[in-house]
Amino acid sequence: MGLNSFQTSGNSPGDANRCHVGILGMGTVGTAVARRLTGSDPIPHLQLTHICDRRARDKQARQPDAVARLTWTDRFDDLLASDIDIIIETIPGSEPAVDYVRAALLAGKSVVTSNKSVIAHHGEKLLALAERQGRQLRFEGAVGGAMPIVRALGDGLAGDHVLKLQAILNGTSNVVLSRMEATGCSLDEAIAEACASGFAESDPSEDLDGVDAAAKLAILCGLAFGVRVAPAAIDTRTTSRIAPTAFAKAKLRGGTIRQIAHAAFDRAQRRLEAWVAPTFVPSGTLFSTIHGPMNAAIISCAYAGDLMLSGQGAGGDASAVAIIADVLAIARDRAAIVPAPVLTPVKDLQGLSDSSIAEAV
Ligand SMILES: NC(=O)c1ccc[n+]([C@@H]2O[C@H](COP(=O)([O-])OP(=O)(O)OC[C@H]3O[C@@H](n4cnc5c(N)ncnc54)[C@H](OP(=O)(O)O)[C@@H]3O)[C@@H](O)[C@H]2O)c1
Repeated sequence: MGLNSFQTSGNSPGDANRCHVGILGMGTVGTAVARRLTGSDPIPHLQLTHICDRRARDKQARQPDAVARLTWTDRFDDLLASDIDIIIETIPGSEPAVDYVRAALLAGKSVVTSNKSVIAHHGEKLLALAERQGRQLRFEGAVGGAMPIVRALGDGLAGDHVLKLQAILNGTSNVVLSRMEATGCSLDEAIAEACASGFAESDPSEDLDGVDAAAKLAILCGLAFGVRVAPAAIDTRTTSRIAPTAFAKAKLRGGTIRQIAHAAFDRAQRRLEAWVAPTFVPSGTLFSTIHGPMNAAIISCAYAGDLMLSGQGAGGDASAVAIIADVLAIARDRAAIVPAPVLTPVKDLQGLSDSSIAEAV
């Protein structure tokens, strides 16, 4: 990080009984976590002590006192050398985040990340490293915002066989499509409104093209089916060619359009069908009722039948809920050894099948 490194010493009292926490990346998500952990409604047993950001000096100056007086640095090594137990990683993209997560685990820290790229591309190896190090790596915030789908698949449904997953996993696409549905506006107008209200990047192509949802779906396939699938291998169809007329047609058919991430696994054949596409959804079903930056999922299981989840899919506060839940899970049992998942390759990976293509628009 910075050639002229920057570090301030915080004056927050160190409480040896509390779990000490540091944050890497003070953007939308990191800031929301910092404010929750230092706010008027503090979380028992957790003490945020360090913040690392490549522009630490600028960011520190813009914080409320309770955050500004923590120890700030622009060198990740300062987090590694500190007495923090858990590093919350909230920077974008795989690189250099994967190196930081690896270094944190090797330095004996547990890690909570909201970074889908790190987990989709490197999760398997990092989770194995965490197990070897006797530390934990948790990532609820990487998929579904406040919707606890990682826990649902990894823990709650561990006694079942998941057969199929269908989900809305990208808040930006859902904001754009539900805006077009509600107002009849063009895709460009809906994108402009989503940008203005902070729900889309100026270039939302990764969201609309399904790249973001495919990375999240790859993570969920590992949890649900125990299979290893590269995000780039998942069939994606773009939402960026949807015209207002498509909604008129969908309405005549008795439904609307949403970007759906779909995965179904045949255990006997080891065949995975996985795709992300703008899809016709009938009125009255869960997905047709999901508007704006919400996420939703229907998980179909062999024994438990169908389960449904929905919730705020993005945004700092929603992601902070998932992150803090992970931090608390580690803090409750810092010595727990969490076995890394054993993922196997799929024999046959299929995209949109003939039966599902009729629903893609
Ligand atoms: N925003 C959401 O709703 C949401 C929801 C769930 C998950 N996530 C994931 O959470 C992560 C953070 O998202 P975000 O929206 O908070 O991003 P963001 O607003 O862009 O914040 C990222 C922060 O990390 C800093 N940073 C970037 N690279 C760094 C590095 N190498 N070393 C130190 N600091 C670095 C950035 O500095 P600069 O200001 O200089 O860029 C910025 O302060 C991403 O992986 C994202 O996919 C986001």
